[in-house]
Amino acid sequence: MKGIILAAGKGTRLYPITRPICKPLLPLYDKPLLYYPLSVLMQAGIREILIIVPPDDQAPFEKLLGDGSALGLSLQYREQKVQRGIADAFLVGEDFVAGQPVCLVLGDNVFHGPSLPAQLARARANTVGATVFGLPVEDPRPFGVVEFDQNGRAVSIEEKPQHPKSNFIVPGLYFYDGQAVELARRLTPSARGELEITALNNLYLEQGQLSVVPLDQQVVWFDAGNADSLLDSARAIRDIQRQTGRLVACPEQIAFEQGWITRESLRQTGEALRMTRYGDYLLSL
Ligand code: G1P
Repeated sequence: MKGIILAAGKGTRLYPITRPICKPLLPLYDKPLLYYPLSVLMQAGIREILIIVPPDDQAPFEKLLGDGSALGLSLQYREQKVQRGIADAFLVGEDFVAGQPVCLVLGDNVFHGPSLPAQLARARANTVGATVFGLPVEDPRPFGVVEFDQNGRAVSIEEKPQHPKSNFIVPGLYFYDGQAVELARRLTPSARGELEITALNNLYLEQGQLSVVPLDQQVVWFDAGNADSLLDSARAIRDIQRQTGRLVACPEQIAFEQGWITRESLRQTGEALRMTRYGDYLLSL
């Protein structure tokens, strides 16, 4: 399975912070925001990853992660020249996807929990159609919201509805079979001018091929797209790390535990970052 991180948003909600540096490279507590969605793909066992970046912004991403080999990954980068929406990731990444199953994660979405790897493995194992997740939130209006029939079956997803039909939303992590690119090509821009990921999910739903799986209650999710949610999620990450003594979203650790890099390679990265808490953590593993 291939992976795509859509990290091409300008982050206008965070201006002026995001004028010189794009959102996925901002810190979320003690590491770049990008590490969190990257870690989700890695926990799903995905090693071939395309990072879609804003125009003219590839260099800082490459500076951070290079070709991915230090993490046992194969990373590619591509620019999204025009902000045409989330589903446009499949048009930008068409040749990368090459008709394979693909998992898309948004560059500002954070997922963490002990049961996450098992839940990701189940989604990945579903080879027909698409799997998305759902979870209840207090205010669903800024998100894709699931509408259920009387039997509790998902009948549609609405993007940012003014009058949500439930409080169950779809976070930014989506598993698709080999049809994603072909279906994305059929989409037309929404009222806000975007190829909506919700529209793609509805196409799968109409074909009877969309699984909406409740996100395990032990898994925490944050959309770290504005100043408040960045701060709230940073606080939560700090608390989790203090309680568990483990870093959340440490790609080197995941790569080591997956058997993708050697202890020696882990040690080298730790040495290079020695005298930082991050480096000392790697050396302590
Ligand atoms: C996007 C999607 C929305 C989803 C959300 C999750 O919204 O369009 O369906 O629920 O991500 O973070 P955006 O962040 O672009 O407003």
